[in-house]
Amino acid sequence: MRTILRGGTVWDESGAADADVVIDAAGRIEALVPRGGQDGGAAREGGAPAQVIDVSGLWVLPGAVDAHVHFRDPGLTAKEDFLTGSAAAAVGGVTTVLDMPNTLPPVNTAAAFAAKLQAVAGRAYTDFGLFGAATAWESIDDLIAHVDGLIEQGAVGIKVLLGPTTGNLSAPSWGELYQLLALHAERTVFVFHCEDRSVIEVATPRVPRALAAEYRGLLAARPRFGEILATAGVLELAGATGARVHVAHVALAEAVGLIARAKGQGWPVTAETCPQYLFLCQDDYEAIGPVMKVLPPIRSARDRDELVQGLRSGAIDLVATDHAPHEPPTKSEQPVWEGSFGMAGVQLLLPLLVDLALRGGCSIPDVVRWTSAAPARAFGLYPAKGALRPGSDADLVVIDPHRAWCVADDWWKSKSRNTAFWGRSGRGFPAMTFLRGRLVQVDGRVCGPPRGRLVRPRAGAGKTDGEAK
Ligand code: NCD
Ligand code: ZN
Repeated sequence: MRTILRGGTVWDESGAADADVVIDAAGRIEALVPRGGQDGGAAREGGAPAQVIDVSGLWVLPGAVDAHVHFRDPGLTAKEDFLTGSAAAAVGGVTTVLDMPNTLPPVNTAAAFAAKLQAVAGRAYTDFGLFGAATAWESIDDLIAHVDGLIEQGAVGIKVLLGPTTGNLSAPSWGELYQLLALHAERTVFVFHCEDRSVIEVATPRVPRALAAEYRGLLAARPRFGEILATAGVLELAGATGARVHVAHVALAEAVGLIARAKGQGWPVTAETCPQYLFLCQDDYEAIGPVMKVLPPIRSARDRDELVQGLRSGAIDLVATDHAPHEPPTKSEQPVWEGSFGMAGVQLLLPLLVDLALRGGCSIPDVVRWTSAAPARAFGLYPAKGALRPGSDADLVVIDPHRAWCVADDWWKSKSRNTAFWGRSGRGFPAMTFLRGRLVQVDGRVCGPPRGRLVRPRAGAGKTDGEAK
């Protein structure tokens, strides 16, 4: 049966329209019917039977595409699993998640990819893409073959973790990366965690113990230089090989400048930042505590402001959450630079940004671009995902701009409560979420069954001229 969302304000990247959204029986957008004209909008629909949902006074946006989540499934499911992670996503208005490969076993072979897909199939409330990982192997031939296998299996991109982080995956050498990207350019998108391992490994034992309990100690263990070096290196890889490079979780002012310069040269580069870098800075550590520990670390107020500017200028393309659930930090004597890093956040991507827009910090079309259209484009999913136009998947979120949300137990869906935003409230409540035309969330509760499917990037998603608008 068709579905009509009647009476809402429909937003996309370019603005708003008062229109009814007609969804066909296959779960795609059939038409946007402007209201106010003589025909009374979709009210005239007399033909095929339709279920009508009244969304008057509410906003309809394309569902968000969170390009960076860690759902911990399989292998680390005490922290999160696909059911709980995707429930949190759906409740927050996210309809597609791209899940990172530092699960157990790591997703660095075709066989591991197939096993992960089997483990999570039928357990997602949202659609999902899965990343593969390029890690160090015995030989470059093994590396190339494994990455080829991952792309063949449908990996949404290939992740490279240049520095030590959860799972401690190794990275290929620069020489290997150069060959790998040159060979697989145009076939996929390479996503980089940009912190240089050697810079961290040499700096960490040299941090004075007197700083072991202070946030400054963490910043000293991970000098800015390590992020600058790694970011500059991966941008050069894009320039030298023509491969699509995506810089994950940009946290540093200098990185914004480097990315802007790479884009200015016409290099095939995209970049993301995360709410924790846009809304917090190191001065907040005293009040928030260890739950603020993420990698790369949150730094100064100037970095935060430059990241906001970078989004506005287009140097940074999109906002993803780096949703990284962990057990609550234990009170221990261990230094601040050890222990687990990461914060849960997939549920807060849209609420935080819609609230920012309602407070005048950006526009709703900005929010749509940063959370939906840009990530869908960056990963070859557009316009099936990330667009609200005829033929696109009817992945939609209905926002109530007058209703408040509050980060508290009765709304929170992740298994882990490790977020620096616990207790925060704002306006713009995700009141309903639709996945391919089916309601998956109402009023903060998921409606089953979990129907999420694997999304595969459009063929040639790595091609630099293929960024379908
Ligand atoms: C992530 C995790 O826990 O998986 N942690 C983090 O602090 N960002 C790993 C990562 O994205 O580097
Ligand atoms: Zn990372």
